[in-house]
Amino acid sequence: MPYNSSTWHNVPLEDKSFLITGGAGFIGSHIAEYLLTHGALKVRILDNFSLGFRENLEHLTHFPALEIMEGDITNKEHCTNAMINIDYVCHLAALGSVPRSINDPIATNHANVSGFLNVIVAAKNAGIKKMIYASSSAVYGDSDVMPRTELKIGRPLSPYALSKYMTEEHAELFGRVYDFHATGFRFFNVFGARQNPEGAYAAVIPRFFKAALESKQPEIYGDGSICRDFTHVSNVVQICVKAMLSNKAEKIYNVACGEKTSILELWNIIAGVVGSTLEPDFKPGRKGDVEQSLADISSVTKDFFYRAEMNIDEGLKMTYAYYKHLYNS
Ligand SMILES: NC(=O)c1ccc[n+]([C@@H]2O[C@H](COP(=O)([O-])OP(=O)(O)OC[C@H]3O[C@@H](n4cnc5c(N)ncnc54)[C@H](O)[C@@H]3O)[C@@H](O)[C@H]2O)c1
Repeated sequence: MPYNSSTWHNVPLEDKSFLITGGAGFIGSHIAEYLLTHGALKVRILDNFSLGFRENLEHLTHFPALEIMEGDITNKEHCTNAMINIDYVCHLAALGSVPRSINDPIATNHANVSGFLNVIVAAKNAGIKKMIYASSSAVYGDSDVMPRTELKIGRPLSPYALSKYMTEEHAELFGRVYDFHATGFRFFNVFGARQNPEGAYAAVIPRFFKAALESKQPEIYGDGSICRDFTHVSNVVQICVKAMLSNKAEKIYNVACGEKTSILELWNIIAGVVGSTLEPDFKPGRKGDVEQSLADISSVTKDFFYRAEMNIDEGLKMTYAYYKHLYNS
C-alpha cells in the first residue's frame, strides 16, 4: 500500500510512540506500515501470533522504530510491559469471525472482553495519552434501522457481536469512573492486502479471490442478497491515525464507505476483475450473520474529517494485485 504519499494528519510523528495490539494481523500491519513510513519514533506490536503472521511485518523490519513483542492481551503483565514508554494505543487484538465465536464463545470472550479489560487497565495505569480500539458493525445485530446510526443498535446475534458490545460498554464506563477516555470504531467489513484467505473463518473477499484465482466455485451462504458496506483498509488506517492524534475522545463511530454491495454483486465484481466465469455454489445461510449492513458515516466525517478515499471498486483492484501475486508465487 503506497502510504508514503498519503498524510492525513498535520502532527509530526518523530517524537511519538505507538502500541498496536494485534499488529501482526491484517489491519494492524497496515497501521504499522503507515506510522513507520511517516517517521514515528516507535511502533511496538503486541501480538500472540494466534491469527497474525510475522510475514505481515516482514517488509517493515528494516525500520529501527519497529519493535515486535510476542505476548498475549489475556496476560496482565504482558499488557503492562507493552505500555512502557508508549504515548498512543491502537487496540486491535481480538478473535474475529462470527462463526468462530459461535463454535467457541469462551475463547472469544476471553480474548475480546477479558483481553480488552487488561489493555484498557494497563493503558489507564500507564497514563497513555490516547487509546482507540476496534469494535464492529456486528454490534448492530438484529436492528432494522438502516443506514446504521451509532445510537441505535439491536440485540447481538453472536458471541462475537456481544464481545464487541461489551468492550464499548467497558470503555464508556472507564470514561465515567476513571476519567480515562477511549474512542471506539465500528469497522464495517474491512478488506485489502494481507487479509488471510485461508481457513474456515476467512472473510468473504479473500475467499472469493482465492476461489477465482484457483478456478474454483465460490461458496455463497444464502441467496447472495445480504449486503455489506465493504471498506478498504486504507480508510481504516486513515481514521485510526487521525483519531490517535486527535483530542476527541470517549465516543463510538462507524467506519465504512457508506455504500452497500450484495454478496452476489461482490462476486460479480471480483469475477470481472479476475476474469472468472464460474457460477457461485449457494449454501444454506449461516447463523449469526447480520442480514443487511450499511453505515451512516456522518458522525466520523464531522468529528474527524474522515473521507472514504478508496471506494470498493478501486480497493478491489488494488487487492487483486496482492492475491494474484500470492497465488502465482
Ligand atoms: N477485518 C474486518 O473486517 C473487521 C471488521 C470489524 C472489526 N474488526 C476488528 O478489527 C480488529 C483487527 O481485525 P483484523 O481483521 O486485522 O484481524 P486479524 O485476525 O488479522 O488480526 C488480529 C490480530 O490479533 C492477534 N491476537 C488475537 N488474540 C490475541 C491475544 N489474545 N493476544 C495478542 N494478540 C492476539 C492475532 O494474532 C492477530 O494478529 C479486530 O479487533 C477485529 O475484531 C475487523
